[in-house]
Amino acid sequence: MTLIDGKQTSAEIKAEIAQEVKQMTSAGKRAPHLAAVLVGHDGGSETYVAHKIKSCEEVGFKSSLIRFEDDATEQQILDTVAKLNNDPDVDGFIVQLPLPKHIDEQKIIEAISPKKDVDGFHPVNLGRLVAGLDTFVSATPSGIVDLIKRYKIETSGKHCVIIGRSNIVGRPLSILMSQKGIDATVTVCHSRTENLKEIARTADILVAALGRPGFVTADMVKEGAAVIDVGTTRVPCADTKSGFRLKGDVDFETVSPKCSYITPVPGGVGPMTICSLLKNTLKAAKQR
Ligand code: GUN
Repeated sequence: MTLIDGKQTSAEIKAEIAQEVKQMTSAGKRAPHLAAVLVGHDGGSETYVAHKIKSCEEVGFKSSLIRFEDDATEQQILDTVAKLNNDPDVDGFIVQLPLPKHIDEQKIIEAISPKKDVDGFHPVNLGRLVAGLDTFVSATPSGIVDLIKRYKIETSGKHCVIIGRSNIVGRPLSILMSQKGIDATVTVCHSRTENLKEIARTADILVAALGRPGFVTADMVKEGAAVIDVGTTRVPCADTKSGFRLKGDVDFETVSPKCSYITPVPGGVGPMTICSLLKNTLKAAKQR
């Protein structure tokens, strides 16, 4: 079994990005600029955004954080999005999800200029992905494909089963995995899927992206499968300073002995997600 090291791989990709930024700035161009909008104080969102800002610094990007309290209005967020869309100094930006219940997430996503939508959540960018056109691919699916490629996991003609159909992970990943050049045969499973266990057992590549800690157990995995765990649920833990730890959607202890490859949580898909966001921001900067 090979443990897929997302931390190491993301460090390699970040070094490549940092090199490109150096070349841009030595040629007199300004560094790419990523902005993030954070509403409220959700612990997970705070951590993700802090990591994104830190990663920008590591590769030499400019970053900015625009914060709002939980009671911010939808109009305030829409106004901020409009400002960022029109700010020539900002190459790309994200609005961290989830947003408070009184704000319509889809409305906010659709207000973001597709040219600055480095999360790849706008319907134009999702549509371009489906059509096989150049686009900003959302960060988690893009990071998963990078890991699969860098570890030379065979995909052509292989059966990839994805558990989870979100617009952020499962659905775009299903498009990527079936694209020419990757050529997997893809099955998307979800909460209404019958015989999920039997389908999962036929996977050469099994992706768990449903957000239920420990959902994938050894009896759902074929001997020799590659298993990608997208889950990052915070569960209480007495042994850590924060009082919680991250738990994946895969029961690592029982599943890992059966796998050819497996991503750990933390340190698997998570660090790659931020890398993909940086890659999209670099691309946005080059396109402007
Ligand atoms: N919340 C969880 N993952 C993401 C992400 O990739 N982007 C944004 N904007 N919010 C998230």
